[in-house]
Amino acid sequence: MIILAVESSCDETSVAIVEDGKKVLSHIVLSQIDIHAVYGGVVPEIASRNHVVHMTRVFERALKEANITEIDIDLVAVTEGPGLIGSLLTGINAATAFAFAHGKKIVGINHLVGHIYAANIDYDIKFPALALLISGGHTELIYMSDHMNFKLLGTTMDDAVGEAYDKVARTLGLPYPGGPVVDKLAQLGIDSYHLPRPFLDKKEFNFSFSGLKSAVINVVHNAHQKNEEIRINDMCASFQASVLDVIIEKTRLAAHAFSVNQIIVAGGVAANKGLRNRIHQEIPGYEIIMPKMEYCTDNAAMIGAAAYHHYLKKGALPNYLLGGTSTLSIED
Ligand code: KG4
Ligand code: ZN
Repeated sequence: MIILAVESSCDETSVAIVEDGKKVLSHIVLSQIDIHAVYGGVVPEIASRNHVVHMTRVFERALKEANITEIDIDLVAVTEGPGLIGSLLTGINAATAFAFAHGKKIVGINHLVGHIYAANIDYDIKFPALALLISGGHTELIYMSDHMNFKLLGTTMDDAVGEAYDKVARTLGLPYPGGPVVDKLAQLGIDSYHLPRPFLDKKEFNFSFSGLKSAVINVVHNAHQKNEEIRINDMCASFQASVLDVIIEKTRLAAHAFSVNQIIVAGGVAANKGLRNRIHQEIPGYEIIMPKMEYCTDNAAMIGAAAYHHYLKKGALPNYLLGGTSTLSIED
């Protein structure tokens, strides 16, 4: 089954052609990071407008690189949420228009489900599985008993982990997106600022990162008032150590509590080198799979990977009938 997948939930315009949920025939990602970097974060209206400008070109390039034509497509898939509403709408409109024009069936895919299924491109998800989904908008522990079967175990009470990275980076005067930069500088510093480990003592699977972010801001403001320098590398190392202590321990507890066979780490923050270095050692006895770096941050290949299993379980809608009827599938 050849799937044309579209992802435009935030600031990446992406179209991929994926065969049987596994083989990525082409994978085009047009990033708007440079455009938004000057504002220190994604500006929704600018993101939507840029999707409109580039969407058709990205479609054409994906088909060309896969060396196929519209006729070869069996199914169209598109991210239907969560995300920035204007950005989502551009992808949904493009995908439904394509499906309508070429008489294809279409499925709407939950963005988070896409992030989890990114791991199924190069590995096989084994059930029961525990997914740690960490991105700019989400911090979730999700239990999967089978394909397309999700139970939310815990989530963030406030800031998502990637959001906390981005805000801490901004406080330290580092460029957007902050996650990769903080990760890089953390490798050069020492965990010496003694920041809190939020919710670590609570025997539950929820997270909270806004207090940790505020702790960094307080240290920075106090230092400025006293005319002292912040040791940027040490602050990055301290923040990262705190985040990783919490997410790794919660993941370990959940894996034990639900006796899972496998742990999936997905989402933009799964690209974190510190996390990748620590998690295998600190959660021994489990197979831990993580998507390739290029499939960690937002991309359409993950939507194509998820769409294949979505279709096998739930079928598809006739072309152009996307809106409202394909329910999102993460339950709590
Ligand atoms: O999954 P994603 O591309 O978009 C959302 O769905 O949110 O994730 C983007 C987030 C940003 O907050 C970015 O700073 C963070 O992932 N990120 C990282 C790293 N690479 C990207 N955070 C920590 N360490 C990284 N290496
Ligand atoms: Zn994402």
